[in-house]
Amino acid sequence: MFTNKEKTIKIIEKSIEKSLVYSNEGEVASYIPELANVNPTDFALSIVYVDGQEYKFGDYNKIFSIQSISKVILLIMALNDNSINEVFEKVDTEPTKYKFNSLIPIDNIAANPFINAGAITISSLIKGKDLNEKFNRTFDKIKKLSNSDKISFLEEIYKSEMDTTDVNRSISYYLRSKKIFSLDAEEVLDLYIRNCSIGINSTDLAHIGALLANGGKDLESGVEIISKDSVRIVLSQMASCGMYEESGRFLLEVGIPSKSGVSGAILGVVPGKCGICVYSPKLDKSGNSVVGKNLLKILSNDLDLNIFV
Ligand code: DON
Repeated sequence: MFTNKEKTIKIIEKSIEKSLVYSNEGEVASYIPELANVNPTDFALSIVYVDGQEYKFGDYNKIFSIQSISKVILLIMALNDNSINEVFEKVDTEPTKYKFNSLIPIDNIAANPFINAGAITISSLIKGKDLNEKFNRTFDKIKKLSNSDKISFLEEIYKSEMDTTDVNRSISYYLRSKKIFSLDAEEVLDLYIRNCSIGINSTDLAHIGALLANGGKDLESGVEIISKDSVRIVLSQMASCGMYEESGRFLLEVGIPSKSGVSGAILGVVPGKCGICVYSPKLDKSGNSVVGKNLLKILSNDLDLNIFV
């Protein structure tokens, strides 16, 4: 006789097997040179339920750069440091069909906090006396939300992106020219890139997901760590805008609010149930992990995680 946990493990192992059919598809991101140095066949899956149960598979201790999943933390921080109105008069809330690093914000302000223009805007709203203090605050926030001491800063990724990030640099100067912020454009850009360069593993990210799934309350103590308003806003933006220009299709097929990053990680949150993080570096044309998005679709069905049905 299998226990429930053993049964769940078997279901997940089967789901992983089905998703690995897609492992020949996609390309590792190379527009940030250092990102091309990852092992394309790395794979990790971590699921953390709100009751604290963990399911971990593959390279779940492997550290990768958080990339755009940092946009979730930046939004939590900005909502902590400013009122909701102050945030959303600077950045819009709408999905976009433009690429995540498009130079075209819509109507001068960025379409949403989860594309680069939006996250650079959000970076300008993080409080602190200087760049270091602002970064240390977001870094500490990630440590606190994941309840982990394994969070690191990936210097090589940071340098590699800072040396090559002409597009994000242009976006930052453009937003400043439109008076979206008045801070130094280089410093705002730097804060954004530093946050993308934070190193984390799939389990620690899944912990952050579980916290969001638990309404922002610590899984053990029940103490509120993220406000209810922030959870509501972050999850709805993940659902509508978290998977770049494929967000609508992903929500239709998978039904899990999610945020992806170009290192190949996707963080999914099933409210009331669990946080899920898949890591597999080969990406589709939109920048979403191919195995990751397919595994989330399969798991949504096999573990009954779709928020709509
Ligand atoms: O700004 C960049 O291009 C990367 N640091 C992050 C891109 C990413 O993960 C997708 N962005 N939404």
